[in-house]
Parts: sequence; structure tokens; C-alpha cells
Amino acid sequence: MQVFKKKNALKDCLSEFKANNYHVGFVPTMGALHEGHLSLISHSKKNNDITVVSIFVNPTQFDNTEDLEKYPKTLEEDLALLEKANCDIVFIPDAKEMYSDNIVSGTYSFDGLENQMEGKYRSGHFDGVATIVHAFFDLIKPTNAYFGEKDFQQLQIVKKLAEKKNLPLNVIGCPIFREKDGLAMSSRNVRLNPEQRAAAPFIYKLLKKVVLQAKKNTIEEISRQVEKEFETNELLNLEYFAIAEEDSLASPKEIDLSKKNRAFIAVHAGNIRLIDNISLS
Ligand code: PAJ
Repeated sequence: MQVFKKKNALKDCLSEFKANNYHVGFVPTMGALHEGHLSLISHSKKNNDITVVSIFVNPTQFDNTEDLEKYPKTLEEDLALLEKANCDIVFIPDAKEMYSDNIVSGTYSFDGLENQMEGKYRSGHFDGVATIVHAFFDLIKPTNAYFGEKDFQQLQIVKKLAEKKNLPLNVIGCPIFREKDGLAMSSRNVRLNPEQRAAAPFIYKLLKKVVLQAKKNTIEEISRQVEKEFETNELLNLEYFAIAEEDSLASPKEIDLSKKNRAFIAVHAGNIRLIDNISLS
């Protein structure tokens, strides 16, 4: 496994593989790796000659300084996990390498995808994500790039980025990896205290209930029911619940089960933010 901190050294290394028409798989991450990340890497390993993983806590996608400062950093463990997963190349730049002295994001438009849910509640978040993902794509020029459905809106936005910028690559979505009790794996889960951790599987239980309700109830009824469930929950606060069409992320008036719809949720456990989603079909 080769580890690079500098763009030029990474580019030189990749140019040799490109000259031989190797398929390059790319998995961008912010580190504090868990099995969800590793599942993306294993998808990449299966379908490419070379797998590149980046670890970079991207400052421009955080709208909350505390969240950025407290983002878990476990580089040594991450590198050991990547070695074990037979990752070929790891890229661990610092902010100066990616942004020079100007740590700001570009401005992007994604035909409205960016205005829903996470975009509404995390100002500038998707501009930050798009800026860094675009920079990585330009540098690495992957054949295939892997993103988790855990961040479903991010996945759709990256697909749109590739389409709008005519980038010659495939953006591939991978299923959500969960803990045994159903909690979606997330780097932020380690920040939950034992009480919050014990309460958190409630989120996925609720989403599974929503799947059943979607067969007979209206969106309004389901949303009201979800809100009610949180009224008595002292550890988890609902930020938003939404039902949206997978492609447009727009909220339908009614649920049409022949179409691809998902339920999305964002919850605060103290000041730790957890998101999850589930397919309704
Ligand atoms: P990060 O949160 O580290 O996630 C990296 C990738 O792993 C994302 O594509 C995310 O959707 C996926 N992932 C996280 N948890 C998962 C789970 N439980 N199951 C399946 N996939 C999971 O998302 C980011 O970083 C950043 O926004 C990034 C794309 C790297 C840009 O900075």
C-alpha cells in the first residue's frame, strides 16, 4: 500500500497505471474508518485494478465549528484497516495541499437537489462537498467512484456533479452498512455517550415502521406520527423527517409505491447529528 500526502506524487504514480489502461476505483472518506467505509472499498476492489482511498476532513463542508473540531481522527488505525483491506493507494493531503491558502468552497447548482433536507439544514454543506469531490476527481480521474447510500443526498449530488461537468467516470452507490442493532454506521457514532448510543437504534426502528405505514397512510399522517414519537424522547431530537423521490429528492404529494421513494431523517443526540434513510419500495 502506498501512502501519498502530495498531489504531484500521487499524480505521477497514477499516470503509470493510466498508461496501462488500468481501471481506477476511488473511495473518498474523512477517515475514522468503519465497516461502512470498508464495504465501499470492497466494492471498488472487486471492479477495478487499483483502489485509491482518500482521507481528508474537508473543512469547507462543515457548517459547525464544534463538529469539525470534534470530528474523530484515527489515522494510524485507519491505515492499518486499509492495509488489511488490501487498499492500493491512500491519499492523505492536508488543507493547504487541497486549498492552498484560500479555504473556501466554489458555488454549485444541482438543479434543486441541494436545496432539500441536508442542504436546507447545513448551509453551504454541498458546495463544500462538491468542491472537494470535484478536486479529487480532477486529480485522480477515477474510472469508478464509490459513495454510500447512507448519505443518499450526497450520492445524488455527486452523480449530478459528474453529469453537469461531463466527467468521464461512473458514480456508484453502495448500500447502508449497519450495526447489529440497526444503527447506521457513522464515524460520529463514537462520540455518542453510552445512554445516547443505547437510544440511537430507535432511528432505524422508526424508519422500518415508516415503510409499513407508507403502504396505507398519507405523508402527512406519517410525518405527524414520527414527530409524535420524538415528543417523549429525551435523548433524541428530531431535526427533520422527509419522504422524497430518489431522483429529484422532491417531496411527492402522495406516496406512489410504484415509484422509487425514500424516507429521510436527521436527529440530534446532544450535539451529535445522526442521519439515516430507507427505501419505501
Ligand atoms: P465520510 O462520512 O467519511 O463517508 C465516506 C463515504 O462512506 C461516503 O460515501 C459515505 O456515504 C460512506 N458511508 C459512511 N457511512 C456508511 C455506512 N454506514 N454504510 C455505507 N456507506 C457509508 O461522506 C463523506 O465522508 C464526505 O462528505 C466526502 C464524500 C469524503 C467528501 O468530503
